[in-house]
Amino acid sequence: MSPAVDPPGVRITAVPTPHRVRPGDDLAEVFSAALEANGVVLADGDVVCVASKVVSLAEGAVAARLPGEDDATARRRIARQHAAGVVAEAPQVLVTRTRHGFVAANGGVDASNVTDADTFLLLPDDPDGSADRLRTAIAERHGVTVGVVVTDTFGRPWRLGQTDVALGVSGVTAIRDERGGHDLDGRRLEVTEVAVADEVAAAADLVRDKGSGTPFVVVRGVPGGRHGTGADLVRPPTADLFAAGGPTAALRSVQARRTVRRFAVDRPVPTAALTDAVAAAVTAPAPHGTRPWRFARLTEPRRSRVLDAMAARWRGDLNADGVAEDVITRRLARSDAVLRPAPELLFAFVVLEDAHDYPDQRRSTAERDLFVLSGGAALQSLQVVLAAHGVGTAWISSTAFCPEVVRAELELPATWAPIGAVAAGFPEDPPPPREPADPTGFLRTY
Ligand SMILES: Cc1cc2nc3c(=O)[nH]c(=O)nc-3n(C[C@H](O)[C@H](O)[C@H](O)COP(=O)(O)O)c2cc1C
Repeated sequence: MSPAVDPPGVRITAVPTPHRVRPGDDLAEVFSAALEANGVVLADGDVVCVASKVVSLAEGAVAARLPGEDDATARRRIARQHAAGVVAEAPQVLVTRTRHGFVAANGGVDASNVTDADTFLLLPDDPDGSADRLRTAIAERHGVTVGVVVTDTFGRPWRLGQTDVALGVSGVTAIRDERGGHDLDGRRLEVTEVAVADEVAAAADLVRDKGSGTPFVVVRGVPGGRHGTGADLVRPPTADLFAAGGPTAALRSVQARRTVRRFAVDRPVPTAALTDAVAAAVTAPAPHGTRPWRFARLTEPRRSRVLDAMAARWRGDLNADGVAEDVITRRLARSDAVLRPAPELLFAFVVLEDAHDYPDQRRSTAERDLFVLSGGAALQSLQVVLAAHGVGTAWISSTAFCPEVVRAELELPATWAPIGAVAAGFPEDPPPPREPADPTGFLRTY
């Protein structure tokens, strides 16, 4: 047997280099020098994995820190600037979808392995193009046909730890589609698509020591064809069950809304949470294409003035009902305890300007009811989105019982029908989780 023939299997060889890559460097040249220094000889079919960091450095895909910015703030700002969208945001983490479609913490913006402390690395502009160019340059220099994978380190949802993935691919199978094939027992494979390029990237990372300058790794023995791009590995947003919510996520977010009546008074509601919630509210279904929902955000001193006027009307109503004074005082105090200290107070309305006019009471009432129902749908969406931001709400009826008072205090026309107040804030105590609802009895089939 010839000793030149590799045994079957995959061989992974680190190709470290002491060279610190700078903008304008020729990566093929850096790689060739590293191959020689390490005594590695390329063969046809090898796959060269190159860390996206050195690709970004060589291509000058960098951004600068603004004066006074700390690392975390700079990475978030830069990630946002280069993002196609925010996937998830929490105090400790920002996950964005990049223009390429990659989903990564801070959109892959990185500060490691950069000599200048004020420079941050972006992902390469076109990783597939970068892989193509390096592949061609290697073929020219070494007379071999290799594949190239541009790799980066990403975290994964639902699994701890990071692993390398393929951002750019050239001359390597990106995905091996095994759908339609059969397993050992002859069962048809329905969903199996092997992410070969990601597997190669992860394998390469096994021999990489992040502290040691190993931007290149050669993987020998990768099976399969040679076609595909890094873009093939990006799940299109339309097929993204998780971002779209999916039935489970939708059910959970609706269930997560709980009425909260005691708020942490020193924790303001972020404006972004409020605007998100109103944006959701104004997608509610409404009669004949109208958009009848309005929200008034009450701040001092107007808030106290309106609440005082509403309380006076309520007291008058209860007095007229013959309710005892101490009972009236208790009921007003219970309502005040929710509305007055709430970090945010919104009044919800439907405007009836676009409601159809009917000559009879039956249809006029139905038309008005339908507008109010639409307001209810909007208000629930508002509460659901606020709950998703961790903000608790209480929908309080009071405004609906004194519409003239509310309109007079806020100088609104008679077409604005108040449908309730929403007190909002972070809960003082987290609301208990809701028991799963049993739909039995709520749905009749005829
Ligand atoms: C139209 C409407 C009016 C409401 N009015 C009040 C109210 O005046 N005061 C109050 O404390 N809660 C009010 N609520 C909240 C309900 O009491 C609450 O939704 C119910 O107890 C169920 O709890 P949950 O929202 O956590 O599922 C109202 C809810 C709706 C839908």
